[in-house]
Amino acid sequence: MHSLEQLRDDALREIESARDEKALNAVRVHYLGRNGSISAWGEQMKTLEKDERPIIGKLLNEVRNAVTAAIEERAEKLRSEKESEALTKIDITLPGTPSERGSLHPLTQILDRSITVFRRMGFALADGPDIETEWHCFDALNTPPEHPARNEQDTFYLPDGRLLRTHTSTVQIRAMQATSPPIRVIAPGAAYRRDEIDATHSAQFHQIEGLYVDENVSVADLKGALEFFFHELLGADTAVRFRPHYFPFTEPSFEIDVQSKALKGGEQWIEVAGSGMVHPAVFEQLNKARGDDAYDPEKWTGYAFGLGMDRRVRS
Ligand code: DAH
Repeated sequence: MHSLEQLRDDALREIESARDEKALNAVRVHYLGRNGSISAWGEQMKTLEKDERPIIGKLLNEVRNAVTAAIEERAEKLRSEKESEALTKIDITLPGTPSERGSLHPLTQILDRSITVFRRMGFALADGPDIETEWHCFDALNTPPEHPARNEQDTFYLPDGRLLRTHTSTVQIRAMQATSPPIRVIAPGAAYRRDEIDATHSAQFHQIEGLYVDENVSVADLKGALEFFFHELLGADTAVRFRPHYFPFTEPSFEIDVQSKALKGGEQWIEVAGSGMVHPAVFEQLNKARGDDAYDPEKWTGYAFGLGMDRRVRS
């Protein structure tokens, strides 16, 4: 029979030389397991003389505690060794896994580029609310009550009679209410119509409105400005066509088509804007609302345009 001290020393030596978790566990079972050597000592206590029991019992406890602590310590050491070994296997010189970088929405990109071009031409940015009055959306723009655009089938009306603006032309009115001529502004923004939603139509779409009022502004200025704009945006080889049209708030009025290699279907003419010379009736409406004659149609002329942004992005 080993003495208890001998048993402890053997155990500690074996623990120290256990190379891995499995070996360490075998040592644990051998000494501390139900049929292990230390447990066997516990059994033998019964056979000892009464006065020996407390002394041996105490010693046995000390041995058991020492062995348990040594096993725990060794287990911890094996774990951390294993961890650092795993870390040394990582090749930190390998290139990392790149994360995908986001980008601006195509619509935002084309808006930003468009705004940059107009700013170079001296246009300031103007703004107005998406929820508008009927007056700003229609009456002030010389659009009579019976005009089909005012129909509830085309326009989203709110219960209080206001509406979601059907075009950004409302901002022309707001800008002219706030500022006397000369005025040169663009207004990028959303507009809303009760369109059936399909691949090329949405109930919400985006426009850039433009307005230039000064003395002696002519159709030539309108043509020049927009041709310059489309050449800058889509390339110098872009063809721009002004097609006579009707809008209540301009006279004469044009729809603008472009033919550009930068657009899908580059051979085709694509309608991109409405435009025209501001109708004198619009100036009259403003004077009435302002209570002055700042927009005297005898003195001032102006052009306006509304560019549809979404189509260009899609093509
Ligand atoms: N507001 C028109 C539309 O949404 C587009 C338009 C036409 C704007 C002529 C204008 C303009 O400023 O002069 O269809």
